[in-house]
Amino acid sequence: MAIIEKLHVARFRNLNDQYLEPNKNINLILGSNGQGKTNLIESLYYLGHNRSFKTKNIKDVVPFDEDLVQINAIIDGEKITLNKSKSKSTIVIGNEKIISNSLLSQHLPTQIISPDRGFIVGGTPKLKRSYLDWGVFHNNKEILKTYKSYNKCLKNINAILTSNNQNHLDEWFSQFALLSVEISQARINYIQKLTKMLEERSLKKLESFVDSTKSLEFKLQTGWTKDVDGLNQNEIKQYLQSNKNSFIKTKHLGYGPHRASVDFYLNEKNEGFLSRGEQKKLSIVFWMLQVLVLAKENSAPVVLIDDISSELDQKKINSILDFLTNLNIQIFITDIGNKELPLDPKKTNIYHIKNGIIISV
Ligand SMILES: Nc1ncnc2c1ncn2[C@@H]1O[C@H](COP(=O)(O)OP(=O)(O)O)[C@@H](O)[C@H]1O
Ligand SMILES: [Mg+2]
Repeated sequence: MAIIEKLHVARFRNLNDQYLEPNKNINLILGSNGQGKTNLIESLYYLGHNRSFKTKNIKDVVPFDEDLVQINAIIDGEKITLNKSKSKSTIVIGNEKIISNSLLSQHLPTQIISPDRGFIVGGTPKLKRSYLDWGVFHNNKEILKTYKSYNKCLKNINAILTSNNQNHLDEWFSQFALLSVEISQARINYIQKLTKMLEERSLKKLESFVDSTKSLEFKLQTGWTKDVDGLNQNEIKQYLQSNKNSFIKTKHLGYGPHRASVDFYLNEKNEGFLSRGEQKKLSIVFWMLQVLVLAKENSAPVVLIDDISSELDQKKINSILDFLTNLNIQIFITDIGNKELPLDPKKTNIYHIKNGIIISV
């Protein structure tokens, strides 16, 4: 269970040397627009991923008059520091320099709910894969090796497809088929886990999001055409071999788990037919299921919710807070402060943020 015990945002956007000793349950950050609420949420996400959910460009997050980003924290008793400039990135956990971002995200898994990142239901396949694989990875850390091998294999295949020599393509296709099945299987297992949790009605507290009389379904599209069984290695291999010429023509492999997606259905109605509001609600249900699955396995993420009342009405805010408080996990919520939030004062720290300065109240 990840708990941020201390946080020092030394340099990040408009945050300069801000120290926080967060509550291990709820942290509410209040402030009007443009003061740094999203920046604080983004800095926490950054610490867990070594990247932003808002921008690919490091220049955007480096404070205007500086040349690097610096965030330090004590998480579950361990010191983590992140220093990053345009040319160099240094991550230290405990006394050890690490080079893999996945180690970082094991120390600080975060589940983020922010309009800047977008909603999973009705979202792009890329966004869907990113949330899905986040869950697959945190449920089964071993799978990372498979993802890495898969990406390497795909890169090799694409390199061969653009070259003049296709001699070794079949061998790579065999490996690709094997790794594809492993990834699709892991994704399906994970979706089954979420579905089971949904069926057990562990989400009673979230009834205002999805009415218990309605059926909610998530279906994996494995990334292959409809006539290929994504769990059948031989079928995949055959498909790849018999379509070799068309891949050579397009110079890349446009099928496979890197093109997978998840389809959402409410009462058998595809997500495309749902209203924006319904898509938002179902997204939150999906994210909360993801949190629940990890919480049950004692590896709950830190939940980050940006601008809570601009996204949700009072009833839904109440039920999501009730749900999360009951799980006893750490959450950071930002808000403009116009709505009354039902928070247990014993479990809550409240902060005000103005011009990037955070004050505990
Ligand atoms: N790289 C940066 N360096 C310094 N300030 C920045 C940087 N990027 C954004 N800001 C400032 O951060 C403020 C916006 O903060 P934000 O967290 O989005 O506000 P809000 O409280 O509305 O969520 C703006 O005043 C903007 O000028
Ligand atoms: Mg904001």
